[in-house]
Amino acid sequence: MAPTYIVLLGPPGAGKGTQAKRIAQKLELVHVSTGDLFRENLKNETELGQLAQQYMNKGELVPDDVTVRMVEERLSRPDCKEGAVMDGFPRTAAQAKAFDELLKKFDSAVKVVPYIKVPDEVLVERLSGRWMSQSGRVYHEKYNPPTVKWIDDIDGSPLYQREDDKPETVRHRIDVYNEQTAPLIDYYRNQGLLVEIDGTQPIEDVTEDIMQAVKEA
Ligand code: AP5
Ligand code: MG
Repeated sequence: MAPTYIVLLGPPGAGKGTQAKRIAQKLELVHVSTGDLFRENLKNETELGQLAQQYMNKGELVPDDVTVRMVEERLSRPDCKEGAVMDGFPRTAAQAKAFDELLKKFDSAVKVVPYIKVPDEVLVERLSGRWMSQSGRVYHEKYNPPTVKWIDDIDGSPLYQREDDKPETVRHRIDVYNEQTAPLIDYYRNQGLLVEIDGTQPIEDVTEDIMQAVKEA
């Protein structure tokens, strides 16, 4: 069977990472987050990490060619042979086209694009209360707290706040999203792949709606 690729679309703080982890587990697919991959490179002090950091800390996008190359390398690994839940990629028109070409090489195509809708005013609050684990698991001090404050439930590692979650950087990330990523809503709608999901619901309900969209795709 051709591999399955699901693209989670939505603004910063919509819940892409939260949902991607849950959906990937249910569907036994790999969760591929370009943000997590860049942060991993940053932690390991690779050249790619150093390059990406300059953009990420300002809330700008990393250049398309670098990002596409990284995704191609990741999706070519054996653990992705059944497909992946994409979180934060594609997020420009050029990336979306490059992704379509890449999936052709894998004899596949995007299956469905759940678009997690959340109004701007909610996003800043979500991101300022977000606590992250090194593994990419996501918590919120109020909406999704870990059992022990600042400690990851699964592996016990310390949680941290992201450098780019300061309110002024978040606002810039939202502007960048509206300018460069929001056009993908129509790109995927025109292909009949977009399904709007109400991202203001509780986490479990959002997951249920996304699973339904996948089932009906
Ligand atoms: P990336 O890491 O992808 O960040 P983002 O897109 O800005 O999205 P976030 O991770 O901030 O939000 P999310 O939607 O994952 O929400 P989450 O689940 O955490 O990218 C970071 C940077 O990397 C970019 O700015 C760019 O520089 C670079 N980059 C990445 N990909 C790139 C690409 N393709 N091209 C170029 N550059 C790229 O949830 C947020 C909070 O809300 C959490 O605390 C969570 O617990 C809480 N929450 C989630 N759901 C709910 C709910 N239903 N109710 C209440 N609270 C909730
Ligand atoms: Mg995320």
